[in-house]
Amino acid sequence: MMDEKTIRKEVIKFWDATGDHYDEQPFHGVMSKEEETEWMSFFKNIIPPGSEKILEVGGGTGFVALRLASLGYHVKCSDISNGMIARAKRKAKEQGLEDLTEFYICDAQDTGEADNSFDVVINRQMMWMLPNPEKALADWIRVVKPGGKVIIIAGDGSKSDDDEDDKKETGKSSNMSGQKTGMMSKKDKMDEESNEAPQWFSDELLNSLPMVRGDKTPEEFMKRDDAVLEVITLDDIQEAEDKALEKMTGEKRKRSPRKVYILTKEK
Ligand SMILES: C[S@@+](CC[C@H](N)C(=O)[O-])C[C@H]1O[C@@H](n2cnc3c(N)ncnc32)[C@H](O)[C@@H]1O
Repeated sequence: MMDEKTIRKEVIKFWDATGDHYDEQPFHGVMSKEEETEWMSFFKNIIPPGSEKILEVGGGTGFVALRLASLGYHVKCSDISNGMIARAKRKAKEQGLEDLTEFYICDAQDTGEADNSFDVVINRQMMWMLPNPEKALADWIRVVKPGGKVIIIAGDGSKSDDDEDDKKETGKSSNMSGQKTGMMSKKDKMDEESNEAPQWFSDELLNSLPMVRGDKTPEEFMKRDDAVLEVITLDDIQEAEDKALEKMTGEKRKRSPRKVYILTKEK
């Protein structure tokens, strides 16, 4: 088992080398107009009206932050990887969204933000990578205002075709479920190799991550006494993503359902 410091180092190494081509990968960036429409309609509906301060953790190349900024929200977007944040900053400039976005480097487990200071804390496809998800969640609840929301977009913890690929490759399942499908397919892994970027996370790293190990279900990881948990599915987005992948590659992949876990902090 890796300690937290080593996990952080390995995670940063991988994402630093990925930033420049992340957006071109299916399930990372958007591959079709339909996907874009579905994501924008999701973001329009998910942010409570009147939200003024939004914090994104593990924001990567700005997938969420830049879309929220295009809707007029001010977003503070953080990530642990310089490579990912550098790309997000370039995109903010290209899209004329610099005034509505702020980017900085920080560990999602310890944002260093003031108590009760944000209306919303949001993240997409990153929580499974945390060595201590409960610690991170406690921090996000701490910084959100009473009545504010922590919004987590993630897989549902069930198995997908990518897990089957892993089984064939390594003789065992990573049990990392839809989270990984949202991250990188086998084809993507091969593309990574040809670009001489680091390969996928090692088995040792994967086995050091509590959500990948499946110590508990994602819902069990999210449950807290000081917040109300609501879970919704992202069927329309997932359908649009699957269609786009099939059109691009002819590949029909069965992915585990993507979900949104919404925690409303008690007043
Ligand atoms: C799959 S990408 C998702 C990026 C972005 N949220 C999106 O939806 O496109 C995962 C991101 O989580 C970041 N990450 C991983 N561990 C982190 C940590 N402990 N603190 C902050 N960011 C982290 C990575 O650097 C990477 O940018």
